[in-house]
Amino acid sequence: MCGIVGYVGGRGATSLLIEGLKRLEYRGYDSAGIAMNNGNGLETRKAKGKISMLEAAVNGNPIHGTVGIAHTRWATHGAPNECNAHPHIDCTKTIAVVHNGIIENYSALRTVLKEKGHVFVSETDTEVLAHLIEENFETTLEDAVMDALNLVEGTFGIAVVSSRDKDKIVAARKGSPLLIGVGDGEYFVASDVAAILAQTREVVYLDDGEVAVITREGYQVSDLGARPVRKGVSRIEWDLDQIEKGGFDHFMMKEIFEQPNSITNAMRGRIVVEDGYSKLGGMNITRDELEKIDNIIITACGTSWHSGLIGELMIEENARIPVETEYASEFRYRNPIVTPNSLCVVISQSGETADTLAAMREAKRRGARTLGLVNVVGSTIAREDDGGVYLHAGPEIGVASTKAFTSQVIGLALLMLKFARRRDMSVARGREIAMAMEALPAQVQQILDRAKEMEMIAEKFKDAQNFLYLGRGYNFPVALEGALKLKEISYIHAEGYPAAEMKHGPIALIDENMPVVFIAPHDSVFDKVASNIQEVKARGGKVICVTSREEPALKGLIDYEFRIPETVDMLYPILTVVPLQLLAYYIATKRGLDVDQPRNLAKSVTVE
Ligand code: F6R
Repeated sequence: MCGIVGYVGGRGATSLLIEGLKRLEYRGYDSAGIAMNNGNGLETRKAKGKISMLEAAVNGNPIHGTVGIAHTRWATHGAPNECNAHPHIDCTKTIAVVHNGIIENYSALRTVLKEKGHVFVSETDTEVLAHLIEENFETTLEDAVMDALNLVEGTFGIAVVSSRDKDKIVAARKGSPLLIGVGDGEYFVASDVAAILAQTREVVYLDDGEVAVITREGYQVSDLGARPVRKGVSRIEWDLDQIEKGGFDHFMMKEIFEQPNSITNAMRGRIVVEDGYSKLGGMNITRDELEKIDNIIITACGTSWHSGLIGELMIEENARIPVETEYASEFRYRNPIVTPNSLCVVISQSGETADTLAAMREAKRRGARTLGLVNVVGSTIAREDDGGVYLHAGPEIGVASTKAFTSQVIGLALLMLKFARRRDMSVARGREIAMAMEALPAQVQQILDRAKEMEMIAEKFKDAQNFLYLGRGYNFPVALEGALKLKEISYIHAEGYPAAEMKHGPIALIDENMPVVFIAPHDSVFDKVASNIQEVKARGGKVICVTSREEPALKGLIDYEFRIPETVDMLYPILTVVPLQLLAYYIATKRGLDVDQPRNLAKSVTVE
């Protein structure tokens, strides 16, 4: 989604801002812009499309200055064109604003401002901010920004510069992430650490309702009523090479191949194999509170929701605690049953997904204890939950989530062990699972070593129009995830179903043009899935099968097979999903598509 970067310091800001925007490209956007205080006034450059277009505009007509803001826009209000691109400017052309989020009362504010004579040039909600700040500008930029924001309903992460009160950036946040990067005699503002990681690792995360005034000399943070707020500086542990491609053609492929490592990191120091137990330091829960939990709600979106479904199966099977896995966007708007003994597990790679955050807040309001399974350290969900388990997958830049998914499943397995070993599960069973978990990184590596086999399968199906993904038990959510991966990056229509559901409708779709991907490792439902494969084959469907063993019963039924190593039932999703990630990747790249920035998608969905 939209990205913000700003700079105030002693260096030329233009190249730093463009570089920062490039680091935000992965988030998804459709236009970009930059505004600079050049000493005499404000200058802006904007472009529709890629940052390279903005760069060309800046190179063709350079702007110079040491204080500036820049933005990548993912269109919400108004088409993705140059006029709607940020920064937005007021009537006097002395104030420039970049904004992430949505101003909900923009229409009413626009009407009032128009009546006062303000002239609007774009269709965006953001432009009202520029005019509101203009309307309230009497003394300092920060006072004008605070007065304006007090009239606004909705969500915002903003950065503002003005030639009337130059040499500063005013930044504010409510519901949309924003941080200050602390350098030596220079400061940054950004919506994502990736934008500034090449410049500094010291950051100050703004919280909702906070405003920062940032100059070369330092920064002050206050609330929207100008009351000072003390903030701590955090250190970012990610390395720059983690946000670069490292020899791979795409971030997605790099991240698929990082999984042996990311899985190891998710487990590191957390498994006690001898006792078949897990240690999760950040849960922030007493033994007593843990034992009182009698129901679990898992809430998440997209891929994270798929991992939640797997968590539900693991916890119910082994810990015997009822679990409900819900789309965050549905949970927040219904009347869910939450009790003081409910644990709400909130799964999010980014920690910023608007629906997931809202669902977590709703669960809290209803008295549940919240536990975040989050990848991005310092993200909003990680800071607002009651306790957390960081996934330690490292930055995930590819829009299609891959390594975060496998780390989430690991996080849920660890959580399951924690609950199950305090309840029914024997030490022997706990140990069996713990040992199987420890074997996973090497098993994933074995799969990756045979990626080329999947590339050959992809070559056969790259022109298909539709795909079905079928699995049962722990691999039904993997069917959903495989279908999601394919559709989001290859734009091929794909559906995931529990394999036995096929005969209740989707079977009508099956003919010789329909590739059907079966996720059929040798687990407790293998024989059942084998019958479903028969049903597809009998109707001429093309069968691609991810399985774990040679199986005489399947002879002649499978057109293409991809073999994975064996593990315990509940951990198969980690091994079965990897070939499906590869299949999606290879099909999309063979169709000539940009897998890291698929059309219409954003990495972190910070609007409802
Ligand atoms: C799919 C994908 C999305 C995200 C979803 C939730 O590849 O990445 O479906 O999983 O938008 O995002 P997070 O996990 O950041 O809350």
